[in-house]
Amino acid sequence: MKSNRLSLSRRTFIKKMSAGASAVYLSPFLNACSQSGKAYPLFSDTEIDVEIRLTAMRDAVQILSGYPTDVWRYKGELIRGPENTIEHIQDSYLGPILHLHQGQNIRIHFANQLGESSIIHWHGLHVPEAADGHPRLVISPGEEYIYEFSVLDRAGTYWFHPHPHGRTGPQVNNGLAGLIVIHDLEEAALDLPRRTYDLPLVIQDRTFDSNNQFIYGGTHMDQVMGFLGDTLLINGQLKKTYSVETRSYRLRLLNGSNSRIYKIAWSDKTKLTVIGTDGGLLEKPISKDYIILAPAQRTELWIDFSNRELGSVLSLINEESAMPGGENEFPIVNFSVDSQSGSSSELPQKLSKHVLNNPQEAVNATDPRQFVLQMGMGMSWNINGQSFEMEGVADDERIRLGDLEMWEFNNQAGGGMGMLLPHPMHIHGLQFQVISRNIDARYRELWETINDGLVDEGWHDTVLVMPGEQVQVLIRFEDFEGLYLYHCHNLEHEDMGMMRNYRVVA
Ligand code: C2O
Ligand code: CU
Ligand code: CU
Repeated sequence: MKSNRLSLSRRTFIKKMSAGASAVYLSPFLNACSQSGKAYPLFSDTEIDVEIRLTAMRDAVQILSGYPTDVWRYKGELIRGPENTIEHIQDSYLGPILHLHQGQNIRIHFANQLGESSIIHWHGLHVPEAADGHPRLVISPGEEYIYEFSVLDRAGTYWFHPHPHGRTGPQVNNGLAGLIVIHDLEEAALDLPRRTYDLPLVIQDRTFDSNNQFIYGGTHMDQVMGFLGDTLLINGQLKKTYSVETRSYRLRLLNGSNSRIYKIAWSDKTKLTVIGTDGGLLEKPISKDYIILAPAQRTELWIDFSNRELGSVLSLINEESAMPGGENEFPIVNFSVDSQSGSSSELPQKLSKHVLNNPQEAVNATDPRQFVLQMGMGMSWNINGQSFEMEGVADDERIRLGDLEMWEFNNQAGGGMGMLLPHPMHIHGLQFQVISRNIDARYRELWETINDGLVDEGWHDTVLVMPGEQVQVLIRFEDFEGLYLYHCHNLEHEDMGMMRNYRVVA
């Protein structure tokens, strides 16, 4: 999984951490109550490869015809580093795409110009505690938080979004989110489609009022079910048709929706060729009739338009499903084959080398850590009967640094009115393997309508746990001590407290 270059940079990085960094390591806690936040100074100025400022601010963008829509967005500015680090998306509220390379040392200044507290989380990235964007590190309007971390992750599609407790759903809905694309040497050696043939597609649903302004569901039912929009946006735009050439493309899909789960297929029943997941490229491509993409999950598809007729249109569609809001089939994005291409690239049959962990080597192989997803008093979702507490860590949420652990998410309990919903469970800071799924016989029928679309191969940071399901994941808590989160990535569930801390100690 890791290239040589990474293990080198990781070694120097770990050395830095142990060599005298411990004194300043606590600084984020001290700074949490001062004027501005600052991750501990990991690097000197000369060691920084990329320095960026991201400012969260109010703005207005033209999404529908007529009135522009008021949005909240991240504006990006490159302070130093390669020129193509920041890719702006025209006419969109989405933040810039950050192109990072494995091994780079990053410094990011987050400036909060919103009317409320916020903090940025780098979803999927393996970063030190102080750089993870935990809600206790929120900064007030007018303040700045400085993040520093090395890019340790594999090439792949990651993203960033706000993480203030109780306000993540509305802040994301207002527009705050952006993609991170990591590049590495293993991937660079492959002949995959690049530049304009490598298309990011952020899928989000929104609801607009008659003045073209976002509506966010404030009712308790919206919170319990998750907020579903009635208008689909791609990359923050209503535009759904992309003009393509007769050649192959790489499509990077992020489900950036608050709660909607998509069942994605090609309109003409062409099989989907999946080449990547949350944690980057698969070992080899896999073929699917459809895939299920839950909030926060990424999937990478490879598609060849070279034998398509000029003028033809192929669409990714959402197939009807039993997921909340999944009653109708609708188009997600259309590709209009408009021009001949002189070049193409073949699908590589070997994409990457994974160094997978062995479940039998988990410290708790026979007795996985249990996380029961349920609904408590007041119809509020929780984990093991407990809601989020800012600094709270239960005894069974303490982990030894370096341990390989089996975690089991159990969605069989229901509770309240016996309601079961799908929960996309996310663990901060690390990528895991999905080991097994177990479905309660009473829910098998529903499950079989989506089961073939679950991509469990490869590396993940978010796993969908269906009603009646028990899902086991294998995860190594390496490199960093500290307080991290795990939670449901249905943002309404997260905001209502379906989130907990775990603490890693040496
Ligand atoms: Cu994208 Cu705490 O999550
Ligand atoms: Cu995350
Ligand atoms: Cu949930």
